[in-house]
Parts: sequence; structure tokens; C-alpha cells
Amino acid sequence: METFDLIVIGAAPGGYVCAFRAAQLGLKVALVEKRPTLGGTCLNVGCIPSKALLHSSEHLVWAKQHAAEHGIGFGSVTFDLPAFLKRKDDVVAKLVGGVSALAKARKVTVVTGAASFVSANTISVAPAAGAPTQLTAKNIVVATGSAPVELPFLKFDGKTIVSSDHAIAFDSIPKKLVVVGGGAIGLELGSVWARLGAQVTVVEMLPAIGGPAYDADIAKAAQAAFEKQGIKFELGAKVTGVKKTAAGSALTAERDGKALEFPADKILVAVGRKANTTGLGAAEAGLKLDERGRVAIDAHFATNLPGVYAIGDVVVGPMLAHKAEEEGVAVAENLAGKHGHVNYGVIPGVIYTDPEVACVGLSEAEAKAKSLEVKVGKFQLQGNGRAIATDGTTGFIKVIADAKTDKVLGVQMVAKGASEMIAAACAHMEYGGSAEDIARTCFAHPTVSESFKEAAMAVSKSSIHSL
Ligand code: NAI
Repeated sequence: METFDLIVIGAAPGGYVCAFRAAQLGLKVALVEKRPTLGGTCLNVGCIPSKALLHSSEHLVWAKQHAAEHGIGFGSVTFDLPAFLKRKDDVVAKLVGGVSALAKARKVTVVTGAASFVSANTISVAPAAGAPTQLTAKNIVVATGSAPVELPFLKFDGKTIVSSDHAIAFDSIPKKLVVVGGGAIGLELGSVWARLGAQVTVVEMLPAIGGPAYDADIAKAAQAAFEKQGIKFELGAKVTGVKKTAAGSALTAERDGKALEFPADKILVAVGRKANTTGLGAAEAGLKLDERGRVAIDAHFATNLPGVYAIGDVVVGPMLAHKAEEEGVAVAENLAGKHGHVNYGVIPGVIYTDPEVACVGLSEAEAKAKSLEVKVGKFQLQGNGRAIATDGTTGFIKVIADAKTDKVLGVQMVAKGASEMIAAACAHMEYGGSAEDIARTCFAHPTVSESFKEAAMAVSKSSIHSL
């Protein structure tokens, strides 16, 4: 039985980053993964393939609807679904191959198979074929991620009722795609298939899309932009099930006691994800889970078992790859005798639609709910030169600052390029910056990012390009 300083279970962004950081700090590390490739949900079936599909489908919309405005003509624009999907597969293959190469270069031992606890410092790894092997280590980090939530009355069949795993690889464009859940997955994959020609209806239980992290004005602006692209929204609708119809299937729901029916040839259920502890042998090993089935941890990622830690989607907190990565680095540093730390107040969220929707820190509503007195500055992109020159005038940026100290509490945006711009907000907030700090930082002109500076200036009513 081989002995390591650290075994990491799960090679998604949380796990592989943890393994790589630990190896960088001199630990002897094994990385155990049940998929044949590294990268987990994010690289194989989540963040990365969806971004590839979003990028390709955006090109199609541009070619069909906007190229002519630029004096560019193609004759008739054609679309090849297998080629579209192949590009996505190539992107994934390149990236998962890159992670494997990095593992090798960092001398991390990759073990393929499903891990389960034998004891607090020994695991059994069962490969797809052949006998299980046992590995032992001083420390073990559980980074097994999450899986799509299945609704009891909408069980995944992979054909009509599908999860995001299937919706990145439909073999034909659905005529009618009904998306249950107006969160990140529903909006991103709904956008992809709408751009390819599907009639997309998003059925959301809450009165707004995007989830609770976003203010109502941001969610409304995003919704209006998506509606212009042809996506329909049914908000405040409680899904009740699915029924067979003469034409195929229909999702059933109710709102204010009224029954609703949405014909669909595909129903994408995107109502959240659940911690992945299946097969881990948690109960047998006495690994404590919390009330929501996540691995219970303390402030230092320690579980109740000595030497066993957990990070990422399998523990409390937002289910985001970058949050998992930060935790991976922190736990690796702690194990190497350093002082790892995650600033949970500055974890950005992004929805990669067109325009993109992004946030960091507190929303205006959250700040007010905490009885904080706030000043808010907003800047509409239609006042930004680069946005006008690059067809990106839909949306706005909002900076939420403490009314007394001017410290930035949060930033929200609906904007083309918001996923990149939010990084500047994170850096400012990480250093405890004020709205005036942003306002007095020199931003390159012309850039859409100047809208972020202008929103910060608007906090003290000193925006130059808006009234
Ligand atoms: P989500 O939690 O972001 O959104 C789910 C939505 O479904 C919510 O708006 C919720 O109100 C709604 N919902 C729940 N039950 C419902 C029901 N019975 N009927 C109708 N609506 C219902 O979950 P999502 O989109 O599935 O994503 C899963 C996780 O993956 C999230 O934590 C998300 O942040 C993460 N993710 C992040 C991405 C990104 O950063 N761009 C992309 C994709 C996923």
C-alpha cells in the first residue's frame, strides 16, 4: 500500500488545484478521480463546454443578425450542429489534457477510480475494471463536487427530461425547450439553444431570474435583454410535473392557483446542484454530513475525522469553481504549515449570457437588510464610447458603497464583458477600497471598464458622462 502526505479525492478545480499547490509546497500527493479525464464537472460537462457553446452560438447570432450592420455579408449563413459540438469537445479535450500534463509535471500521482473511506487515513480506489487498491495518507481532502438536483416529479431520462450534462450535447436543435430554473445554468444553456433557433421558455419559481445574489434592477435589465433575444420567462410559477400530449410532452406548473402548461420536446431541469457524497463510504467511516447532505467542516475545512478535510461544492457555500479553487489553495497551504485563507466576502458570481451578469460582495438589498446605510452609483453603458463602438450598450453597472466610509460593499453589472470587468471590482474590494479609490484610478480609454469607474464616480454624484 502506497503512502502519501496527502490524498485528494476528486480532480475538479477544487481538488486538482489543492493537489498542485500541495505538491508545489513539497508534499507527496495522490489525486484520485473516477472519471477517465481530470477536470471534474467544470472542465468536462460544466463551465468550460458551456462557455464554448455560448461563444460559438454568439458568432452565429452575430453572423445572422448583426454582420450586415457592419457592411459584412455572407450570402446565406449555414449551421452544422456536429461541427459546433465537436469544437466544444476539442476545447474540453485540450483543457483536460493540459491538467493531466500539469499533474505529471508536478509529480502528482493520478489514480483513476472511485474512492471510498476505509478509515480516516486509508481509502480504497475501485477502478472501472479490475481489483480495488488501497492508498494511505497523513491527510485526505474530499473534493467530490456536486451533481444536478433531480426533482421527484421530473426524473431525468436523458431524452425529454434532461440535466445540464445532456443539454451540452443535444443531437438536434429542440423546437421547444422548456427550462426549469432561471439560475446560471438555465440562463446560459437556454441562451445557447435559443440562439440556435429553439423556442425557449424559462419557468422560474421566484419572481426574478438570476438568484438571490442579484438586485431586482439588475435581474430586470438582464431579463429584458434576454426577452429581446426571444427567450420567454414564466416567473413565480411552481412546477408540478410533466404530462404526455398529442404533440409530445408538456411541463405542468401553477401560478396563483392557475394551472399552466408548456409544450416541450426537451425539458432542462436546472434547479441547483447537490453535494456529491455517494459511494464515499461517509456513513461507514463516520464522516459527519450537515443537514443538507454536505460534508460538515469547521472554519479550517476540517471534518470530524482527524486529518480529513473537505472543500468546494461538497461543503457549505456557493457552488462555484473559483470558490473551490481558493479553498483548495488554502487547505494545501495549511497542511504545508502556512496560513491559508479564503475571503468569502469577495467571491464573484457570473452568468455568461449576452449581456453577461456579474456581482461581487453585497447587493444593495443585502446591504439594506443588514441595516447598512448605503450610497449607490449607477452608470448606463449607453453613455460609454467603447460600448457604442462595439455593440455593447445594453445594461448598466452599479457600485454599492457604505454611506459613511465610502468603502465598496458590492458591485453588480449587466454588461458585455462583465465577467472580465468584475475582476477589477474584486481587486478593489480585496484591498478594502472605497468608491473614491476606483473613481481616482486611471482606466484606459476607450474601454467598457470606464463604466465601472463612472459608476464609482456616480456614488458621489461626480460621474462625468452621465447626469
Ligand atoms: P441555481 O441555484 O443557480 O438556480 C436555480 C434556479 O432554479 C433558482 O432561481 C431557483 O429559484 C429555481 N428553482 C428551484 N426549484 C425550482 C422549481 N421547482 N421550479 C422552478 N424553479 C425552481 O442553480 P443552477 O442554475 O442549476 O446551477 C447550479 C449551480 O451551479 C449553482 O450553484 C450555480 O451557481 C453553479 N453554476 C455557476 C455557473 C456560473 O458561475 N456561470 C454556471 C452554471 C452553474
